[in-house]
Amino acid sequence: MTNWTKFECFLHETGHPPLTEKPLTFPKSWYPLCRSADVKRGKVIRQVAFGAPLAIFRTHSGRLGAVHAACAHMGADLSRGRVVGERIQCPLHHWEYDASGACELIPAESAIPARARQTSLVCEERYGIIFGFLGGEPAFPLPGFPDDALPRASRVRIMDFDTPYQVLASNSYDAQHFSSVHHRTLLETPRVFIHAPHHYGIAFRAAVAGAASHDRLLRALGVQEVELTANCYGGNTVIAYSGRTANYIMFATLPITETHSRIFVLNAVSKQRNLPAFLVPLILEITHQLTLAFLHADIAVIHQLEYKFGVLLPDSDAGFIGWLRYWNSLPTSSILNRATQTQSQAMDFEQLTS
Ligand code: FES
Ligand SMILES: [Fe+2]
Repeated sequence: MTNWTKFECFLHETGHPPLTEKPLTFPKSWYPLCRSADVKRGKVIRQVAFGAPLAIFRTHSGRLGAVHAACAHMGADLSRGRVVGERIQCPLHHWEYDASGACELIPAESAIPARARQTSLVCEERYGIIFGFLGGEPAFPLPGFPDDALPRASRVRIMDFDTPYQVLASNSYDAQHFSSVHHRTLLETPRVFIHAPHHYGIAFRAAVAGAASHDRLLRALGVQEVELTANCYGGNTVIAYSGRTANYIMFATLPITETHSRIFVLNAVSKQRNLPAFLVPLILEITHQLTLAFLHADIAVIHQLEYKFGVLLPDSDAGFIGWLRYWNSLPTSSILNRATQTQSQAMDFEQLTS
C-alpha cells in the first residue's frame, strides 16, 4: 500500500478525483494557496494543490512554509505533524524541515543526506491570502493591484470548480462569451499588449446590453459602455480594470488537480475616484457584489467543462488562441520531485540510500 492510497481516500471523501503519481506540471507562477487566517502561528494545515498534498505552516516567529506534504523519508503526511520552533516536524520519525523544505534534524542520525528535502514554495501574503511561487526562486514579483489603486482591498471570495483552472484564467480572453454569457457587445477588436514573458494583456470597449439587475443598475448610473483591460500574470492570475467604473478585480486561480480548481476573487478601487475615506468600505463592498453578480453567469456554465479545443475560430476566438499560446509558452514546474515520488516501479535501493 503506497501513501498515495491515503491521499486518494482523502480526495474521494472531499469529492476530488484520485491523485496520480504522474508529476503534473504547471507554469512557474504565484498561486493563491489559502487565506492567511487559515494558518495560525505554530500551526500546519493541509491543502491539495498541483495534484499533490501540501503542508502549509506558520512558524513560531511567523515565517510561512509550504512544502510537499509527503515526507522525503518514508512519505508520512507532514500536515499531521507539528510546528516545532521554525520547523515542521514529521509525525512518524520526527525529522524536521525548515520553511525552505531543507531537513535540519534527524533524531536518529547526526548526518543529514542532501536528498532529505521537501519541494517547497516561496510564500508571500497579500490581501489576506497566502500566495506560493511554484518553481523555485520567484521569477517575477507577486502580482497585485497597481499603485493607482487604494491600498485597501475588498474581502475575498473563494469558489471551487470541477473544471481545469485554465478555464477560469482564460475567461477574460474569451471574446465570444462576453456577448453570449455577459451581454456585453464588443465595440472593437481587443488590443493585445505584452510587458514581459509572464504577462499577457488585452483591452477593449463593450456596450452594456442585457436585462440583469446589475446591467440595469450600471446603465442607470450612466455607464452605457465599459472599457476593460485584463492583465494575466504567470498564466493563472488576472487583474482586470474597468475604466468607466474605476474598479479593479483580481482573479487568482489555483489548480487543485488537473480537473479541479479554485478561484480567489477580490476588488480594489482606483484613487482616481477621489472617494472620501469613510465611503471606501461601502464602495468596495458594492463593487465586490457587482463583480460576483457578473461572475454568476460564468459560474452557471463552466462546471464540468472539459477544456478541449475542437474547433477554434481564427477571428472570433483570436483572444483565446493568443492566451493559449502565451500559457503554452510559460516555463513549467512540478510540486513532485524525484525524491518525493512514490516509486511503483522496481526501486533502486542504492540510489535511495545515497
Ligand atoms: S516518514 Fe517522515 S521522518 Fe520518517
Ligand atoms: Fe466571464
